[in-house]
Amino acid sequence: MTISIEIPQPDDWHVHLRDGDMLAAVVGYTARRFRYALVMPNLVPAITSTAAVATYRERIMAAVPVDAADFRPLFAIYCSRVIDLDDLRRGAADGSIAAVKYYPAGATTNSAAGGSSMFDFMSLFEVMADSEIRLLVHAESTDPAIDIFDREAHFLSEQLAPVCAALPELSVTVEHVSTSDGVDFVAAHPRCAATITPHHLARDRSHLLANGMRPDLYCKPVINSTTDRAALLAAATSGAKGYMLGTDSAPHPTTAKYGPVAKAGVFNAAYGLEVVAEAFYQAGRLDQLGQFASTNGVACWGVEPPSSTITLTRETIDRELATSLTTTKGDEVVLFGTEEAALWTIQTTPVTAATFGC
Ligand code: NCD
Ligand code: ZN
Repeated sequence: MTISIEIPQPDDWHVHLRDGDMLAAVVGYTARRFRYALVMPNLVPAITSTAAVATYRERIMAAVPVDAADFRPLFAIYCSRVIDLDDLRRGAADGSIAAVKYYPAGATTNSAAGGSSMFDFMSLFEVMADSEIRLLVHAESTDPAIDIFDREAHFLSEQLAPVCAALPELSVTVEHVSTSDGVDFVAAHPRCAATITPHHLARDRSHLLANGMRPDLYCKPVINSTTDRAALLAAATSGAKGYMLGTDSAPHPTTAKYGPVAKAGVFNAAYGLEVVAEAFYQAGRLDQLGQFASTNGVACWGVEPPSSTITLTRETIDRELATSLTTTKGDEVVLFGTEEAALWTIQTTPVTAATFGC
């Protein structure tokens, strides 16, 4: 049976576009499919100022394919001691800086410039609360005594909960929420939203570990238990406004994924939406896809609603699907989600503004 659903054009509220030849190889996947994309600042060196955002934006826009006419990147800067508060205020006021991203040092790819404690940044967070600048948080403890599968819950209770209690006006996004504890935390904090990734919605740690170790599924925070996945899917399909799609698409060359130590990150920009559609379909909640992938993020970020839609169709047809991309330098990146992409076709369907009543 063929099933179709039309949703407002979706956005990606957490993406790694990288730089140089990797940027050139990956940006089209995001720019052709999504309108807004919140671009993460974990380059080396990290993006920490309006000047660095401006030049990064130029490099991104120069790499966007011409047929991706309505791509609107937004930028987070990296939470660091070098942030100049006047520069941040200016950037937030003119829209060049959308948010500040806190990385615990050592938790993930390119996090060496991150913090050892959120409490060291309270004066910055106060300015952000006053100026209504959203804080994005990679919520993962780096305490070696804490089990890797418990590190999100530990970080939330030990670090983010006290920050939220001290600064109740601060708007926060728990990025790539990965556990039922994370979902509970967001539900208990009215100023907290969360992004959820396609891979955390559609895979659990048995996919990662049970039938041979899968570096392509290795990311931070690590994909967790079946119970956690069920909680994420329930949250994403609930219609609650605080949950939105953030792919956390994070390309790494196969040389960095399949060596003795795999780098963290799943590249899902190509097929992430198909993966989410299939997860919603399997949950019997396809009707909630537009809320999660399109409407919630637009409301949370107060950006202009889209004037076009896309149509996703689930049908069995033969298709030639790419399983990897190759950069101009010759690096190969594995595409996540080919199983789901084999089931779904996505079409852009421009509509008149009147359809959305705007
Ligand atoms: C991201 C990357 O590769 O930049 N990796 C990941 O596993 N998610 C960084 C991040 O968002 O943690
Ligand atoms: Zn990320």
